[in-house]
Amino acid sequence: MTVKVLSVASEAVPLVKTGGLADVAGALPGALAAQGVEVTTFIPGYPAVLAKLGKGKAIHKWDGLLGAPARLLSGTIGDHPLLVLDAPALFAREGGPYSDGSGRDWDDNWRRFAAFARAAADIAGGAVKGRVFDLVHAHDWQTGLVPAYLRLAPLEGGRDVPSIITIHNMAFQGYYPAEVFPQLGLPPTAWTVDGVESYGGVGFLKAGMQLADAITTVSPTYAGEVRSIEFGMGLEGLVQARSNRVHGILNGIDTAEWNPASDPHLAATYTAGKLAARAKNKRAVEQAFGLDRDDGPLFVVVSRLTWQKGMDVLAEVLDHLVGIGGRLALLGAGDAEIEQRFLAAAARHPGRVGVRLGYDEAASHRLQGGGDAILIPSRFEPCGLTQLYGLAYGCVPIVSRTGGLADTVIDANPAALAAEVATGIQMNAVSHNALAMAISRAVELYAQPATWKRLQKNGMQADFSWGASGAAYAALYRQLIEEQG
Ligand code: ADP
Ligand code: GLC
Repeated sequence: MTVKVLSVASEAVPLVKTGGLADVAGALPGALAAQGVEVTTFIPGYPAVLAKLGKGKAIHKWDGLLGAPARLLSGTIGDHPLLVLDAPALFAREGGPYSDGSGRDWDDNWRRFAAFARAAADIAGGAVKGRVFDLVHAHDWQTGLVPAYLRLAPLEGGRDVPSIITIHNMAFQGYYPAEVFPQLGLPPTAWTVDGVESYGGVGFLKAGMQLADAITTVSPTYAGEVRSIEFGMGLEGLVQARSNRVHGILNGIDTAEWNPASDPHLAATYTAGKLAARAKNKRAVEQAFGLDRDDGPLFVVVSRLTWQKGMDVLAEVLDHLVGIGGRLALLGAGDAEIEQRFLAAAARHPGRVGVRLGYDEAASHRLQGGGDAILIPSRFEPCGLTQLYGLAYGCVPIVSRTGGLADTVIDANPAALAAEVATGIQMNAVSHNALAMAISRAVELYAQPATWKRLQKNGMQADFSWGASGAAYAALYRQLIEEQG
């Protein structure tokens, strides 16, 4: 029997993306179709989404979703069903999904995403004729209230469906002052530690984790880490209390979109058997980033420039990287102060460090296809996708041993090298010294062409498609639906 799932997310490729959540939400329908699960994606109607949707058919109307008039539009995302919440008062604004053009969070984010969650709960309850769902899959804090509405304020006479919340990043929790509670349309009894209350305020992610039937995180190691104070960020107690409901399911990658043998963004396509063709891509990156042409290793970065990603530490290690013969091409955007440090490093090291501030999907493919190694010194990383793209592209990942990075990269230690299974370099918790050492190890390994080629090939031959993870989600869906009876 086909299982019908409503996947509720604040971003999804190819309609709107600020990070890995969009890659995952965009890939889930395809990953699960192979498992007999039909996923309908539900996202907010930001201007960019409405523009791509074209006309879209209106199939439902709300006079007021937390006060805002709204329509539900139906369309497709790839070959899969899509629902879009068109609520101009909440989503018709220029800027990003969560913040204005200057990066400041919208003041009414609590209302925008509570309304979105309310709509999701109504749809799952059966408010829209002809649309029946067996389960709701919510993602991150923006959709944390979905399980709360389903459980504590369900659609009258609606269908009772189980829910899952996936934590893509515990650092963003959607925490708001107590004053917003009366405006959420939840019963007064929801204001308890078993409901949506969290440290005296309203916690969107906390509510989802409390009230969903299962909690997943995007890698097994992160599922363990969030039980600790360091990674749980205040919600570790809740994770521990619900530990028999917590699952770590690794993200996969979209192997049609990320395939060096057919990638239209690359100057030259290649396979593990034809690695020499990568040289052309390397030359293209050197040229695009104003770098010298030489035989040394070309390190690349494609990242949000933030503390989570350890980018402050990397900026400090660049003199060392250049000093031992490396070059760096960096594409990223984020904290203004970190951006400035990279610009300063580029000015200090012309021809050796090239920096492009901004977001550029095509360039992100070209860096993976032309770089020798990708640097990912994250302080924490729920899963991480850029190391998976690096593995698939023969761009050897250099990562910290945390979260999904620990689960997906095999360190080139002597045992792994002897067994010929290594795929990259891992370092212990990121620090100036650890990162400098990891970069030195990369330079040494790169000087041994046969060993380096082995690392590249091992990564390219590993399987990071959605197969196993799609099956794991499908099994969990079926288990929860069965439990519900
Ligand atoms: P996170 O979601 O925490 O940022 P992930 O590694 O899961 O980290 O996903 C990041 C995604 O965003 C990847 O698809 C990566 O290629 C992309 N990305 C990050 N920064 C940029 C950028 N400046 N330009 C283009 N793509 C980027
Ligand atoms: C978050 C995490 C990242 C993960 C992505 C998709 O943005 O920071 O590690 O890969 O979500 O799950």
